Amino acid sequence: MSNLKRFIAYYKPERRLLVVDLVAASIIAVLDLFFPIITRMFMKDYIPDQNVQAVLVWTGVLVALYVLRLGCQYFVDYYGHVVGVNMEYQMRTDLFTHLQTLDFRFFDDTKVGHLMSRIVNDLRDISELAHHGPEDLFIASLMLIGSFAYLLTISVPLTLITFAFIPVIGWYAYTRRTAMNRAFTEERKRIADVNADVENSLSGIRVAQSFVNEDYEKRRFDSANTAFKRSRRKAFKAMAIYSSGLGFLTDVLNVAVLCVGSLFMFRGHIDLADLTAYLLFIGYFLQPIRRLISFTQQYQQGMTGFSRFAELMDVSPGVADKEGARVLPPVRGDIVIDNVNFQYTKHAEVLQQVSLHIPAGCTVAFVGPSGGGKTTLCHLIPRFYDATGGKITIDGHDVRDVTLASLRQQIGFVQQDVFLFTGTIRENILYGYPKASEEEMIAAAEKAQIHAFVLSLPDGYDTYVGE
Ligand SMILES: Nc1ncnc2c1ncn2[C@@H]1O[C@H](COP(=O)(O)OP(=O)(O)OP(=O)(O)O)[C@@H](O)[C@H]1O
Ligand SMILES: [Mg+2]
Repeated sequence: MSNLKRFIAYYKPERRLLVVDLVAASIIAVLDLFFPIITRMFMKDYIPDQNVQAVLVWTGVLVALYVLRLGCQYFVDYYGHVVGVNMEYQMRTDLFTHLQTLDFRFFDDTKVGHLMSRIVNDLRDISELAHHGPEDLFIASLMLIGSFAYLLTISVPLTLITFAFIPVIGWYAYTRRTAMNRAFTEERKRIADVNADVENSLSGIRVAQSFVNEDYEKRRFDSANTAFKRSRRKAFKAMAIYSSGLGFLTDVLNVAVLCVGSLFMFRGHIDLADLTAYLLFIGYFLQPIRRLISFTQQYQQGMTGFSRFAELMDVSPGVADKEGARVLPPVRGDIVIDNVNFQYTKHAEVLQQVSLHIPAGCTVAFVGPSGGGKTTLCHLIPRFYDATGGKITIDGHDVRDVTLASLRQQIGFVQQDVFLFTGTIRENILYGYPKASEEEMIAAAEKAQIHAFVLSLPDGYDTYVGE
């Protein structure tokens, strides 16, 4: 429930557009109801009376209404989606901003690539729900209620018979469509397997060829490919069942109304015009039913996506500015590590009661076996992780008492695993200090002894590099 509230909150900046969208959607629904009603008027009065004037007037009215419908449909198709797109944009911005605040520990435990691709898909589902949800619900209810009310005025028993079919059609459509969706989800999983297999085999093709294992690779690929083929056939089978069955049920409804309606006509309960109106209305029923079905599914998918989104938004950073954190004044660099403990997981303590004083201006090297905790100790100073015991001070300021930004801005850090952002060499060098001048940038490169190398590249500092 709270997720729903949170979801609705994202509508707030879009509420004007949403209201106009819903108005346009309801105009469409009402206009769709008009056609059978006017047809009935024609058949009942204007045609028997040979009332040319009324026929021409109403034709004109209908054309005008359809032009209005054109405008509304355009609005709903375009601006309705814009509502969803804007909300999706906002959520993605919020999520990205939030992810920036999360600490190393979070990224240690989370497969970011995996997560992000899911989030992108999830957000797309949410956006679909955001736009189509209210519209579908609105149009479909309006059309069903409107036609029900109108048909009741013609004949109560025939209307009840007609509407008795709706739960049956609805149930069929819902269950079959759910089955179809499941089959298509399965298909998506299988294609992911095929992709993984292709990638794996092709990247290892040199190994495969050196071991003359092409046949083995082919066989292995064939099993994934066959599974994919099967899942695809299943998905299309489910689709065929869904649409042919739905078509059949509508046909049955048509025949039933035609038959019962004719009997009613014989008995003088209704006339030909009424029967025509019924038959026309049936053509319109299917649309709101489909809309309602697609709404229920979009709701499920969209809300599942949204709850994953909300879950991620609720992760609070383990390392953050504490309340009332001060800005760290320009440092001299006197570092005291006082009785520090640290553990990544509950089981193993990586650092135990480490104490150390590094006076300002000193150059210190940590030497030790691999996995000894050198990198870990360095990560505690800019608070990539917080020590689980003891404290670290710089010039007497506990690192946990100052703001993260002011602390990290004053610490230069070369990671053990070097990472280059996608962009030019210049952009990468300037990353830590974008305001630096060209001379300062070159001076930094010279210090790192890469200046000559960079100049030897065809594009120099504008050479494009990536991950
Ligand atoms: N993100 C992490 N999550 C859990 N355990 C970790 C993590 N990073 C390091 N460790 C563990 O903590 C211990 C210390 O690792 P650390 O990287 O600090 O060692 P190191 O001295 O820098 O080693 P190397 O010389 O190989 O760089 C190791 O046992 C390592 O497996
Ligand atoms: Mg290390």
